[in-house]
Amino acid sequence: MCCNKDIYFAPLQGYTEDCYRRIHHQLCGGVKGYFTPFVRMEHGQTRSKDMRDIRHDFNEGVPVTPQIIASSANELRKLTDRVLEEGYSAIDINMGCPFPLQTRHGRGAGLLPHPDVVEQVCNAMSEYTQVEFSVKMRLGLSANDEWKDVLPILNDIELKHITLHPRIGEQQYNGTTDEDSFGEFLSACKHKVIYNGDLCSIKDIDRIIAKFPSIEGVMLGRGLLARPTLAYEYANGINLSDDDVISRMKSMHSMLHEQYSRIIPAEAAILSKLRTFWDYAEPTIGRKAWKKLKKAGNMRNYMIAVNEL
Ligand SMILES: Cc1cc2nc3c(=O)[nH]c(=O)nc-3n(C[C@H](O)[C@H](O)[C@H](O)COP(=O)(O)O)c2cc1C
Repeated sequence: MCCNKDIYFAPLQGYTEDCYRRIHHQLCGGVKGYFTPFVRMEHGQTRSKDMRDIRHDFNEGVPVTPQIIASSANELRKLTDRVLEEGYSAIDINMGCPFPLQTRHGRGAGLLPHPDVVEQVCNAMSEYTQVEFSVKMRLGLSANDEWKDVLPILNDIELKHITLHPRIGEQQYNGTTDEDSFGEFLSACKHKVIYNGDLCSIKDIDRIIAKFPSIEGVMLGRGLLARPTLAYEYANGINLSDDDVISRMKSMHSMLHEQYSRIIPAEAAILSKLRTFWDYAEPTIGRKAWKKLKKAGNMRNYMIAVNEL
């Protein structure tokens, strides 16, 4: 079975930044769209690191949608205005981030227990008739039925789609996904719905599509970090050998190395950034090789471990 749904690359702060997205798009592909890690306000300003990540010249040729995270209608307007200055016409709204640093301030999944604030945020979104908004959310912050008060509000505005990760914020990434609640959400949602969560193989993708045939597509995060060719394999209905996948990962890694070397001055900083490339790759490269990469204390030993893959 293959390829009748679109695959999107999930935003992963610290992983899927502009360099990674460009190189993934060039060497692996199979992905209809990439979402940036969220752009947020800090001390009343957008962070320059976030704005750099969405700059057009760093995303040329890559189908990318910036994501923003806001706790109020005002924050949403400020962030939307900044993103629009970069020339985008589509923006994804984060209503799912589970990290207490954000939820405590009513951002991400922290919005979900407050339908009144969601309504204000949605009203602000509706002011921007030229923008195609989408929403990425969880079932709730601390209960799996909080979405029931939020979805009618979202159903009332124009949205490109809603991506649902069927966990609650308090689970972070632990425990299982709640597919029954996903099914209920899907039936009640008037927008296109994208499934996100724990899809790590073609078999996982096929199973979810067979279970929920009316979804618009699937969004993959850690599964694509582990096996960057997964979307390409799904889209083309093929299974690459592990050797082929590892060889493509090594090409990605070598391009990342080259690009990080140009923008990061210190070798130790390049090494710590490069090392993250393998964080989720243990299922693909094996435990022994993965541990060797993790443990390599300097660039020389690290590159020996990479070359041994
Ligand atoms: C390290 C890390 C960073 C993440 N950063 C973001 C983010 O910036 N925006 C967002 O909407 N989700 C973020 N997520 C959530 C992922 O986009 C995705 O919803 C989650 O990992 C579940 O999908 P997966 O099981 O396919 O990885 C992050 C997750 C992880 C593990």
